[in-house]
Amino acid sequence: MSKRTYTPPVKEIKYLRISLTDRCNFVCPYCRSEKFSTPKGFEITADHIERVVKVFSQYGLKTVRLTGGEPLLRPDIVEIVKRISLYGVEIALTTNGFFLKGLAKPLKEAGVKRLNISLDSLKEDKFRYITGGGDLNRVLEGIAEAKKVGFKSIKLNTVAIKGFTEEEIDDLLNFAAEGGFHLRFIELMPIGKLPFYSEDRFLPLDWVKNYIEENYGKLEPLDRSGSGASKDFYLPALKLKVGFIKAITEPFCEGCSKFRLTSDGKIHFCLRLEESFDLKPYLDDENKLRSVVGKLLELKTETNAFITKNGFGWFAENSKMVALGG
Ligand code: 5AD
Ligand code: SF4
Repeated sequence: MSKRTYTPPVKEIKYLRISLTDRCNFVCPYCRSEKFSTPKGFEITADHIERVVKVFSQYGLKTVRLTGGEPLLRPDIVEIVKRISLYGVEIALTTNGFFLKGLAKPLKEAGVKRLNISLDSLKEDKFRYITGGGDLNRVLEGIAEAKKVGFKSIKLNTVAIKGFTEEEIDDLLNFAAEGGFHLRFIELMPIGKLPFYSEDRFLPLDWVKNYIEENYGKLEPLDRSGSGASKDFYLPALKLKVGFIKAITEPFCEGCSKFRLTSDGKIHFCLRLEESFDLKPYLDDENKLRSVVGKLLELKTETNAFITKNGFGWFAENSKMVALGG
């Protein structure tokens, strides 16, 4: 943390990411290493999740994003979506796509409105490497199924990695354009201590943006939408929406209103800070949950007052990306 500055108070919990599990069937080296995979401990239940969404919806909650680990590993995923869709919040989901072929339809019917699917490579061998053994074709089938069952605005998330991503850009752009998907590049964030994080792997998104403009023409800026993390552009040459999440070179901490609930019942206020608030003792009782909202808003306001250091060489050593879910 470098310095504290004034920041307006956070008055509502508008956006909540819920990590349904810290387990994953993939081992993306920028997210987890086999070594860190923990045995399954306490995991928030569908009852807890419904209670949190119900109470937070009385304090301004508009969007819930379900994430992981891999959220589709939860056998009760469809039930969870059905139950929280009763509270008038928009439900989004981030997945690695592996289980999507069978689940896209029931998830859509249960009320998921928006889908983000990770896709770092369109080459089978590189995909296998970057997911620690994942099967590209199965994920592509999942993406196709999601489109077929009528999901609109499917976003494909690509983590930019130097020496890996450069030669994928053309394929990814064309794939997204053909399928009518929105493609988003994310700067590699060193969250926790993983051997994969090294400055030589960091590919600034300005490089990707310049590459696209040199080869496909000008990107036209679109209004910032959603939580504001992504800067979105329209690429007329391919009739495609491309977004850039410059988490490192242009951090977007100011005005952040994101809350994160991890599967072990903790509220995190920032991806880059280790501090969290243990919500577990409050999860069994609506009134208890209500009583703690003020405290959460206060802590969020305080966290926003830290302007994080710019640059790659700084991270929360003890955090785990796989537990935070992006
Ligand atoms: N840096 C940037 N993005 C990451 N993701 C996971 N770990 C990292 C990291 N260290 C991305 C995944 C997924 C989303 C949840 O976050 O690729 O798309
Ligand atoms: Fe699993 Fe997603 Fe992490 Fe990859 S990035 S290991 S798919 S949680």
